[in-house]
Amino acid sequence: MVMRSPRDPVIEPADLRLLSAPLDFLEVEHYRFRAFLAHLERLASDRRVARRAAAARLLLAFLLGDAALHLAEEEETLFPMLRARCRTADGVERILGLVEGERARARDLSFAIVAGLRDCASQAVPDAGFASSVATFVGAMRRHIDWENALVLPLARKRLTPGDLARLAAGMAERRGGDGTGGAAGHGYFGE
Ligand SMILES: [Fe+2]
Repeated sequence: MVMRSPRDPVIEPADLRLLSAPLDFLEVEHYRFRAFLAHLERLASDRRVARRAAAARLLLAFLLGDAALHLAEEEETLFPMLRARCRTADGVERILGLVEGERARARDLSFAIVAGLRDCASQAVPDAGFASSVATFVGAMRRHIDWENALVLPLARKRLTPGDLARLAAGMAERRGGDGTGGAAGHGYFGE
């Protein structure tokens, strides 16, 4: 069993009670993304091998688990719902285009991020380009979260029907194991 230090980084667990209000759940999850990104930035410049290894294990678990799940369910369920419900004047294609552009940038870099985190987790030295990959990845992820909070979620609150929200909530609970207790790990969204 790996012992955790009180100084190890923390990403608070998801509040699964919010799954019945799926847009609130996604918005709260964005705070967890921001914590992940701040920890990732610190790890990229940390030269303390043991501290870096503990942080890398936590960050890998979040990236390949809850983060991948969140992004996949938005792409597979929320964005198609918005495209179906919004009117031309809502500008949904322009909005989702901004978000999807930043996601594509982050996803391209995710192979380097996952490889670097695995190196750090095994107390090896990551590739020389790891720090610059992290900087670009973090920038793209932060912009994408900003667009979602400012544009996508308000549009979803305005246009999705109660039936849409119920379907979204049911799908999110099912991806997490039906009763919301598991099933998030190893989704395969990011480079592995
Ligand atoms: Fe999101």
